[in-house]
Amino acid sequence: MHILVTGGAGYIGSHVVKQLLEKTSHDVTIIDNLSTGHQATLDTLEQIALTSKNGDLRFYRTDLSNFAEIEKIFLTNRFDAVMHFAASIVVPESVINPLKYYMNNTVNTTNLIRVCNEYVVQKFIFSSTAAVYGEPSEVPVRETTQTHPINPYGMSKLMSEHILQDTAAAKSDFSFVILRYFNVAGADINNRIGQSFPNATHLIKVAAQTALAQREKISVFGTDYDTPDGTCIRDYIHVDDLASAHLRALAYLSEGNKSDIFNCGYGHGFSVYEVIETMKKISDIDFTVETSPRRSGDPALLISDNTKIKNTLGWEAYYDDLALICKTALDWEKNV
Ligand SMILES: NC(=O)c1ccc[n+]([C@@H]2O[C@H](COP(=O)([O-])OP(=O)(O)OC[C@H]3O[C@@H](n4cnc5c(N)ncnc54)[C@H](O)[C@@H]3O)[C@@H](O)[C@H]2O)c1
Repeated sequence: MHILVTGGAGYIGSHVVKQLLEKTSHDVTIIDNLSTGHQATLDTLEQIALTSKNGDLRFYRTDLSNFAEIEKIFLTNRFDAVMHFAASIVVPESVINPLKYYMNNTVNTTNLIRVCNEYVVQKFIFSSTAAVYGEPSEVPVRETTQTHPINPYGMSKLMSEHILQDTAAAKSDFSFVILRYFNVAGADINNRIGQSFPNATHLIKVAAQTALAQREKISVFGTDYDTPDGTCIRDYIHVDDLASAHLRALAYLSEGNKSDIFNCGYGHGFSVYEVIETMKKISDIDFTVETSPRRSGDPALLISDNTKIKNTLGWEAYYDDLALICKTALDWEKNV
């Protein structure tokens, strides 16, 4: 098969491309504008493609808002499936600049779906987020838990989900898998690729940067939550386990199964303090931690129910180990 991966130079997309190149014989084409993705990541993926000698890798530096260019790429390639990662992903920025999020995440996704329909690309795998649940009404969060995003980022993703669902309902030859990621963390076990975006706000990355003295201190937002140690609890999933969920989703759609939505997480969580303690232990550095007031819109507890992805896609976790996740993140941070 020939798979189009948008955002393949970014954090999660690059881990999926790596697995496609190493574990399948599919050809892969990446579309990325390199706004937060990196040429160095593409160079590494090119090396992986050469070493693994499976499918070919091609790259277009194009912005998804350039509809004419996107259409040209579909005209000159025959794609069997699209994996759509490209998006703007910073929640606070989405509150300040919502239109950036609706344009990049919702409008560009809508166009991509339209072009897929026009060129009869029948399989679409979409990167969604636990942010569609907002402050969830039940924990563990199931796919049927009410969606109620509390910021434009989450809403821009939920709108894309609805557009996919409506399109698939109207077109029997178009099917999708929506993957709702919980907290993605860690890096390639062999330390070849990782999260390179310098201003990322993800806790494990920030803890690794603080351990390496790239930041002076780490802030803990809220220590008075109704959790055992008072800090928020999140479900951290290693990026390679998340990547393998995409390969399972592709196989699932290729077998002719019906469109569906799956949570991606381990089904258990760690508090902010537990993550920081683990990073201190792994790095052997007692870095500075400061406490700050709660941020609005941070639920105390966000944990997935992952029963559905395990039972339906046959997905299994291999890196469900906080110390390993922290170690891969730390090793990667030494590189960047
Ligand atoms: N990182 C997380 O914890 C997390 C959690 C939930 C969901 N997600 C979703 O996963 C996906 C990937 O996230 P990530 O963490 O890898 O982010 P990232 O910023 O590392 O990757 C996004 C990639 O898309 C590219 N891109 C963005 N807008 C583009 C455009 N208009 N045209 C072409 N390329 C464009 C960027 O250059 C980058 O390479 C996103 O859709 C995000 O919403 C991420």
